[in-house]
Amino acid sequence: MNQNSWIMALALILLTAIVSPAVHGQTATHEDSAEGLRLFRTNCAGCHRWHGGGGGGYGGDALSLRRTKLDRAQIIEVIGCGRPGTGMPFHLRDAYNDGKCYGLSATDVSNGMVREAKNFLRPNEIEIIADYVIANVKGRGEPSFAECQAFFGTGSRACNVYKSQQTAGQ
Ligand code: HEC
Repeated sequence: MNQNSWIMALALILLTAIVSPAVHGQTATHEDSAEGLRLFRTNCAGCHRWHGGGGGGYGGDALSLRRTKLDRAQIIEVIGCGRPGTGMPFHLRDAYNDGKCYGLSATDVSNGMVREAKNFLRPNEIEIIADYVIANVKGRGEPSFAECQAFFGTGSRACNVYKSQQTAGQ
C-alpha cells in the first residue's frame, strides 16, 4: 500500500467508528444513558414515578411508560408537544409557535388547552429521554430491586420495599 491508501484506510476506520453508533440507532451510549436517567429523574419521575409506571397524583393519572405502545418518534412528540386536555405538559419551548404540534397555537396554550412543563428541554435532551425510556422503561414488567437501585443508588432505603418483595417471591 502506498501512503495514500494508508490514509484512506485510516479514514475509513475512523468513519466507521463515528457512524456505527448512529447506524445502530437506538443503542444509546453510556454517557447518554446516565444523562437520560438524570433528565428523566428531574423532568418525568415526579409524575410518572421513578419506574415510569405512572399512577395517580398531580395532574391526573400519568400513563405507564412501561406499558406504553408508543414508538420513539411518538414518545418524542408527546414529550415535546405534551398532550392537550390532559396533565401531560409540553417540554419544547417553541412547541406551539408554528402549529407543528397538532396544529394548535400559542393562543390555545394560553387558553389552557395544553399544560406547560416546569422546565423546557432542548430537542436533543428530549431524544436522550426517549432513548432512556425505550432502553430502560418501555416493555418492562414489574419494577425490580435492581432497577430501583440503578435509579436511587445502592445505599438508598427507598428500594427496601422491592427487596422484600423479591425475597417473598422466591
Ligand atoms: C405534570 C405531570 C407530568 C410530567 C412532568 C410528565 N408527564 Fe408524561 N404524562 C402525564 C399524564 C397525566 C399522562 C397521560 C396523558 C393521557 O391521559 O393521555 C402522560 C402521558 C405520557 C406519555 C404517553 C404514554 C402513552 O402510552 O400514551 C408519554 C410517552 C409520557 N407521558 C412521557 C413523559 C416523559 C418522558 C416525561 C418527562 C420528560 C413526562 N412524561 C413528564 C403527566 C406528566
